[in-house]
Amino acid sequence: MAAAALNPPDRAARLTRLNSVPTPFVTPSLLNCDFGRVGEELAALKQAGTVAVHLDVMDGHFVPNLSYGAPVIADWRKYTEFPFDTHLMIADPGRYLDDFIDAGCDVIIFHIEAVPEPVPLLRRIRAAGCQAALSLNPPTPLAAIEPFLDELDAVLVMSVMPGFGGQKFEAQVLDKVRALRSQRPGLRISIDGGINRTTVGEAVAAGATQLVAGSAVFRSDGNYAAALAELAEGARCVRT
Ligand code: DX5
Ligand code: ZN
Repeated sequence: MAAAALNPPDRAARLTRLNSVPTPFVTPSLLNCDFGRVGEELAALKQAGTVAVHLDVMDGHFVPNLSYGAPVIADWRKYTEFPFDTHLMIADPGRYLDDFIDAGCDVIIFHIEAVPEPVPLLRRIRAAGCQAALSLNPPTPLAAIEPFLDELDAVLVMSVMPGFGGQKFEAQVLDKVRALRSQRPGLRISIDGGINRTTVGEAVAAGATQLVAGSAVFRSDGNYAAALAELAEGARCVRT
């Protein structure tokens, strides 16, 4: 497949929209959605006021789970204009990067634990018109990404070990969020894992501006508007 970005004007428009979303905002992680009816799920999220979705790509090597890859995302892209916040939990993101760009991903996040020298990859992502982000696991110190902050559009702080939805929020990672926020007042800081109506407040208080939420959105009653409203309410009840 050619390395050229798919529909570059559309991507630029999606990213302009994403950049103008008031913070903090929630990006539902599709990991816990009904994959048998993704089109309906995306329509329901749009109806509920979602502004972007978070896509979790897992390879069974970097994390002990498998999800989906670029061909599946390319099919979703035909049916939605949601910005795709794409979280690559894969061992060799550089090998597949062009596939994710061509599939219509917008923000491309990979892990510092997978690519300790990330600058060439970050620059390839930006050169394709996408936004580049690094993620770090709970045990990884902030120092691991600090040398690269000028190359980043966002940082994704993991508040669980990646691989599965529905895990317990690890509050100690908020020290990293606070430290990063004090260094970079304008940076988009996402937090991912265990975000719910209780934990969202402390994440926002620490400085997170983007809340990734899987199981808190895709709950059993299917009322995504209510779930998003509860998270927004929790975000207002800032806990320090
Ligand atoms: C975990 C993924 C998350 C996950 C979040 O490895 O990166 O995006 O879907 O799910 P919850 O919100 O249930 O922790
Ligand atoms: Zn994720």
